[in-house]
Amino acid sequence: MGKVTVRTLKKIKDSGEKFSMLTAYDYSTAKYLDESGIDVILIGDSLAMTALGYENTNCIGVEEMTIFTRAVAKGVKRAMVVTDMPFMSYTIDIPSALNNIGNMVKNGANAVKLEGCNDYIEKLIECTVNMGVPVMGHIGFTPQSQNVIGGYIIQGKTEDAAAELLKQAKKLEKAGVFSIVLEMVPEVVAKNITQNVSVPTISCGAGRYCDGFVMVCDDLFGKFDNFTPKFARKYGDMKLLITDCAKKYIESIKDGTYPNENEVY
Ligand code: KIV
Repeated sequence: MGKVTVRTLKKIKDSGEKFSMLTAYDYSTAKYLDESGIDVILIGDSLAMTALGYENTNCIGVEEMTIFTRAVAKGVKRAMVVTDMPFMSYTIDIPSALNNIGNMVKNGANAVKLEGCNDYIEKLIECTVNMGVPVMGHIGFTPQSQNVIGGYIIQGKTEDAAAELLKQAKKLEKAGVFSIVLEMVPEVVAKNITQNVSVPTISCGAGRYCDGFVMVCDDLFGKFDNFTPKFARKYGDMKLLITDCAKKYIESIKDGTYPNENEVY
């Protein structure tokens, strides 16, 4: 299987199949996800909370995202590697945004994700694509604007709000994005957007009818237990695995069975 590119994802949409996307924040997790056949790996700014223990995603900066991008990219051969541009790294002005975006690519990202849709973001998408970097859009609930939105609130619930989301999706498509994340949007709204744009849509709590699906890997693994959104499914219990291993290790030190004769020089 060759490297996943913007063309691969478009082909998947056009064939009516679905693609998979997960976040990853470190080398070995990225390597295993890639070996498992994940199509897209996102260095999500969610790592601010899951990997760094910050209160929200607005606390992380370009330098930190660069380090995690480099680690993830080193573990990936096939999947497309996308880096989330962090809060304030792309909204001040176009030259500094392009500089920060270029920096992620130099550190291994194949594409970047930008939240929101307004005149400035549309212009930035055009400039970024012209610079040679594919852009993934992100509308609906946009965590970097959570203070303006007023919390984790489902978007597109009224007829007007749903129409506005479709308008935004079309604007992003025109500006040149290769895909659009729809976060916390009613299923019926996401389905309508998916049927009315040519680029793949990615469901992040936007129901079953998008072209691809994304989840935070720590939710999937059962590793992050501060809170779990309704749309996240826990496929394993990594917290239990980690605490179980740690308890066994502690116990084996206490009872003198670790290290044994084969574990010494
Ligand atoms: O930061 C993140 O992990 C994300 C995805 C959940 C879409 O933006």
